[in-house]
Amino acid sequence: MKFFVDTAEIDQIAELNDLGMVDGVTTNPSLIMKSGRDILEVTKEIAALVDGPVSAEVVATEAAEMIAEGRKLAKIAENITVKVPLTWAGLQTCKTLSSEGTMVNVTLCFSANQALLAAKAGATFISPFVGRLDDINIDGMDLINDIRTIYDNYAFDTEILVASIRTVNHVLESALIGADVITAPPAVIKKLADHPLTDAGLAQFMADWAKTGQNIL
Ligand code: E4P
Repeated sequence: MKFFVDTAEIDQIAELNDLGMVDGVTTNPSLIMKSGRDILEVTKEIAALVDGPVSAEVVATEAAEMIAEGRKLAKIAENITVKVPLTWAGLQTCKTLSSEGTMVNVTLCFSANQALLAAKAGATFISPFVGRLDDINIDGMDLINDIRTIYDNYAFDTEILVASIRTVNHVLESALIGADVITAPPAVIKKLADHPLTDAGLAQFMADWAKTGQNIL
């Protein structure tokens, strides 16, 4: 399963990238706003830093303007993935840009039928938002299961990019279901290494080692 980092903060991306944990990056207008950076500049920097796909989202709502924005974003670097919302205009943009060879990430997906449309429109990635479904008391992981079944039934190439990840359990369940990619905030990716028994075991080893009076170096 690939790990994308869901942020536009260069330092945080670089830190995880150095550890080999970054297969790609996703941004959205809210994350660009939080970074305080110019979208074209920060996207260019991220794309130069990371080898994998870097999602940059269009902000127009009509297809012609979305396509124009997408073409401009795609010119930033070869690894740019144009992110479009799951609307009919977004699907039209997806079809046009994917036919031109541009990677497209269809975002704001909340139903399996929406995911089916995105695959038929040639999406490279579909981004179902599990956390926002959990927020309204609908199990987001049920959606991932349904999309996995549908995509496997018809051998669609579109990759399931689980988005709106809030917990380490979202990551675990995505892996168990067989999602292709997760995109998570850096803090969630870092938490994947945590376990209280690891901490307790290490403390015990350190205490016992101190009693030996030995050094390795
Ligand atoms: C990524 O592509 C999404 O924009 C992001 O995961 C949304 O996360 P949120 O629901 O926590 O804002």
